[in-house]
Amino acid sequence: MKIISDKAEALRKLQEKARAGGGDERVKARAKTGKFSARQRIEHLLDEDSFEEIDLLRKTRAREFGLADRDIPADGVVTGLGKIRGRSVAVYSQDFTVLGGSLGLAHAEKICKIMDLADKTGVPVIGLSDSGGARIQEGVDALGGYAEIFWRNVQSSGRIPQISAILGPCAGGAVYSPAMTDFVFMVRGESHMFITGPEVVRAATGEECDFDELGGSDAHASKSGVCHFVANSEQQCFRMIRELLDYLPQNYRELPRVKANSDDPKRESETLDRISRRAARHAFDTLEVIREIGDGANFLEVHQDWARNILCGFIRLEGRTVGVVANNSKVLSGALDIQASEKAARFVRFCDAFSVPLLTLVDVPGYWPGREQEHRGIIRRGAKLLYAYCEATVPKVTVILRKAYGGAYDVMSSKHVRGDFNYAWPCAEIAVMGPEGAVNILFAKEIKKAADHEKRRRELVDEYTKQFANPYLAAQRGYIDEVIEARKTRPKLIRAFAFLRNKKADIPRKKHGNIPL
Ligand code: HXC
Repeated sequence: MKIISDKAEALRKLQEKARAGGGDERVKARAKTGKFSARQRIEHLLDEDSFEEIDLLRKTRAREFGLADRDIPADGVVTGLGKIRGRSVAVYSQDFTVLGGSLGLAHAEKICKIMDLADKTGVPVIGLSDSGGARIQEGVDALGGYAEIFWRNVQSSGRIPQISAILGPCAGGAVYSPAMTDFVFMVRGESHMFITGPEVVRAATGEECDFDELGGSDAHASKSGVCHFVANSEQQCFRMIRELLDYLPQNYRELPRVKANSDDPKRESETLDRISRRAARHAFDTLEVIREIGDGANFLEVHQDWARNILCGFIRLEGRTVGVVANNSKVLSGALDIQASEKAARFVRFCDAFSVPLLTLVDVPGYWPGREQEHRGIIRRGAKLLYAYCEATVPKVTVILRKAYGGAYDVMSSKHVRGDFNYAWPCAEIAVMGPEGAVNILFAKEIKKAADHEKRRRELVDEYTKQFANPYLAAQRGYIDEVIEARKTRPKLIRAFAFLRNKKADIPRKKHGNIPL
């Protein structure tokens, strides 16, 4: 009995030492900066008392450059399984107090072990990054460790949701693991991601920039699009991750959880009627439309600060998750440019991979024209959204709210790219181009000949508007299944998605497609 309790005592001491991370001094210094420790982060993220740690006693075998004499508790990363709102998740949290959270082979193997467990058991994996990158002393073993993580990111892509929160530095090749996950969270003023830091940038290019400017949360949330969600604090970041997971299934074989809903599925909306009445003359707030449609006005927006000309995010209809893609006419008139196409394409592919039905709200004057967009590859990059919609087999329901012009009409989940139900408001305008542009091309000579050019031009614009700028030609051809009153949009969509619940669609046999990257 005595022997057992001695051994138990020894085990407790070992565990305590490993849990202490980089030691009191470092942990306290860090707490002063307002940051949580690696373990506190896990506590805040997960349901109370749900964390089961794995590999607490794991150690590096590396001996070089003084590592033989160093104690590296838990090898600088806390890994394990836990629950979020009652459902299992796998999590890792890098400990900056231990050798700067740097990644050596054992550290990488710990992460890989929980990634494998997550994939095998079909649960989301969440990585909390806070690291100086590859552990310099471990050389190629550290690089290999990263590559093992990257490989798993790709194997698990589309099988389980993968989420990254950057809670400190994330530099060099280390950025590529988060980049390959589904959603990246950053905390304002705390997170930094870059391929090379400001010093190297200065040495290589002469360019002066600071950490925030180069790779802070705002840079990645509004300019590069690397970051999907920005929080003002770690607490808020964890709350946001929990909320996001609530909309998602555990893996590609399951459906998202159905939430209790008290919003009437038959609710009609005066607001949508008002918006549609004014639509011909006023750009409207697409966010308001989305909120009017969903249960309880909730909308979890993804990439809120990037490519604002298109809005992507999750709502619920009758308690079930729906992914929304909506042109936002308040920015660039809602036109599709490179960033909007890439933002929406990635979102559509995420929803399709994880059985989240898609609602597309269309108000688009076309692709954004000009030399800058052409030379940066609007043809190749704009095609990504088209490809994503053509490929998606989840239920797809589309409502044309106002404009649907040109190629953008085809792209935005039209009947032709296999929209299941395609609706239009009575104020919708579906045509090759807007009246002004069309008349200027078709009747250039006639306008020139007319005694009063402007008067004749206006007459022709009116005529074209009457004839083409409506949803009825498309409805006559069956490209629009029904022209609906704006007020009835929510009940109509609820019935449509309910009907499509058992949709089965085969995809042609092949290894994989070749999306224009
Ligand atoms: C080993 C490291 C380390 C690393 C930090 N430390 N980064 N140890 N390998 N990569 C150690 C420091 O020596 C120090 O140890 C402790 O962590 C804290 O670091 P500080 O520099 O004191 O902290 P701070 O001033 O806050 O600066 C943080 C930092 C800086 C900006 C992250 O440490 C830094 O620039 N580190 C190197 C970043 C980097 O270039 N990494 C390689 C990227 S390339 P002591 O014992 O003194 O407390 C890469 C390739 C991946 O990662 C490739 C994948 C394919």
